[in-house]
Amino acid sequence: MKNATTPYVIAPSILSADFARLGDEVKNVIAAGADWIHFDVMDNHYVPNLTFGPMICGALKPHAKRADGTPVPVDVHLMVQPVDALAAAFADAGADYISFHPDASNHVHRSIQVIKSKGVKAGLAFNPAMELDVLDWVIDDLDLILVMSVNPGFGGQSFIDSALRKIELIKKRIEASGKDIRLEVDGGIKVDNIRRVADAGADAFVAGSAIFGKTDYKGVIDAMRGELA
Ligand code: DX5
Ligand code: ZN
Repeated sequence: MKNATTPYVIAPSILSADFARLGDEVKNVIAAGADWIHFDVMDNHYVPNLTFGPMICGALKPHAKRADGTPVPVDVHLMVQPVDALAAAFADAGADYISFHPDASNHVHRSIQVIKSKGVKAGLAFNPAMELDVLDWVIDDLDLILVMSVNPGFGGQSFIDSALRKIELIKKRIEASGKDIRLEVDGGIKVDNIRRVADAGADAFVAGSAIFGKTDYKGVIDAMRGELA
């Protein structure tokens, strides 16, 4: 059950946005009600795709704000190996959250420390077949846990149902830790499954193609919020 204090977060992934107009896309999706901007960083090494780096993050950061000037968190998801240098570069480029895959770092605790030493919130991202044991030793250092409900590398894939069981297990770990940790899910999130994912325990939702694949971003985000209400 979601606790009353953490409102749900809708985090559109710009992986599915129009790359020729990324600045406008960020502004438009914020105007449409986005809570965070999810930034899928791919290096064509850890995942078989290549997207954007810290310079693009820096260029978009000034646009990550609401009409009233309040900042919109930039939620950087590093699908890269190695992690540490790029994590530091994205922190310098203005990332508010930086999550990485534990299997992409030789020293997970140190990679988390690199992120937190920059004053940025740290997250771990778990692929569909990835076990959760590492949380035994680092959950207290995390601000975010990201559950991949698709195999990383591409938008527009179908939701992998086993992620629901993993969300439930992680939710139990978060509750046992007593820490205020965001439980974010990434991949295949649609209007017609977001409620089921929330009921499993998620409170933050990455959605790329569901939002940027439509012309009316606000309509989709409102429909997602309607399902979560
Ligand atoms: C996979 C990406 C995608 C993306 C969301 O590496 O992380 O999960 O953000 O894509 P959709 O919402 O289109 O499945
Ligand atoms: Zn992502």
